[in-house]
Amino acid sequence: MTRDLVSGGQYIHAPDDLNRLLQDIYDEALTIKQGKVADYIPALAAVNPDYCALTLATLDGEVFNVGDTKQQFSIQSVSKIFGLMLAMERLGDDLWQRVKMEPSGQAFNSIVQLEWEKGIPRNPMINAGAILVSDVLVSHYSASKNAVLSLVRSLCGNDRIYANDEVHQSEKEHGHRNSALAHLMKSFGNIESDVDELLDHYFWQCALTMTCENLARSLTFLANDGVCPFSKKEIMSKRDSQRINALLSTSGMYDQSGEFAFTVGVPAKSGVGGGIVAIVPDFGVIAAWSPKLNEYGNSARGMFMVRELANKLGLSVY
Ligand code: DON
Repeated sequence: MTRDLVSGGQYIHAPDDLNRLLQDIYDEALTIKQGKVADYIPALAAVNPDYCALTLATLDGEVFNVGDTKQQFSIQSVSKIFGLMLAMERLGDDLWQRVKMEPSGQAFNSIVQLEWEKGIPRNPMINAGAILVSDVLVSHYSASKNAVLSLVRSLCGNDRIYANDEVHQSEKEHGHRNSALAHLMKSFGNIESDVDELLDHYFWQCALTMTCENLARSLTFLANDGVCPFSKKEIMSKRDSQRINALLSTSGMYDQSGEFAFTVGVPAKSGVGGGIVAIVPDFGVIAAWSPKLNEYGNSARGMFMVRELANKLGLSVY
């Protein structure tokens, strides 16, 4: 372990203790029956709602898994982190002229604020912001999907990561709200590329498919000042990794971000596929997955598991 952990007044040293803790939390999560699988993307509604997985990847290279951690799922909005990384690299500080860094206090797919604020999205984690980021990628990369895919594959150390074609097409056919967001931004002059082309990129990126373990490993660099603890490669500067964590803290869990900071206390990102990834600086990454969502679009069991693990180990950064 990179730091002393305490649970129930006892120091945790042995991996067995952590395995037991994860198993207990997972067992309790299975008793949670509330929530509803996302059905506004029809292909997501077909996923077995009973899946449940919890992974902890620590900076010293240990990975603890319980449940369906090898089962692939649609990462949806968690992919907004990967798109943002590339857009930050390409545009530098100019990006922040086109998308802000404020919490929205609105649902992830809300459109109302975007008109008041003249087509400039509140942050890159809500749909409008991630669509803007997709515009940057489509305009600045000759093959934007390949750029995202090779980034994600290298972060996971897994060449078999792919975007699920059925989920991609399903959202393309039903993504009228996202299409409205893109057209509204275009009407304000904040979109450069062809709307259909950038939406195709955005829907494809949301359809990326990973396991809970892949997800935890891929983002450990954010807990380690931008350096991947497995490959020792610098993925991004310390400043940029701190900035992404700041955005995840204020906006990653949408209009439940305040409650998440209050009850869990670490940067995190969720997706409507039921995935949640939580970054614990100087310690590691917790990833949870279970498809049934609460009213904010965050996994009901996933919220419980991440909160319990963070609380039991005293991981809040505040
Ligand atoms: O654009 C959408 O609505 C989905 N592809 C992604 C939304 C999402 O994952 C929000 N997460 N909680």
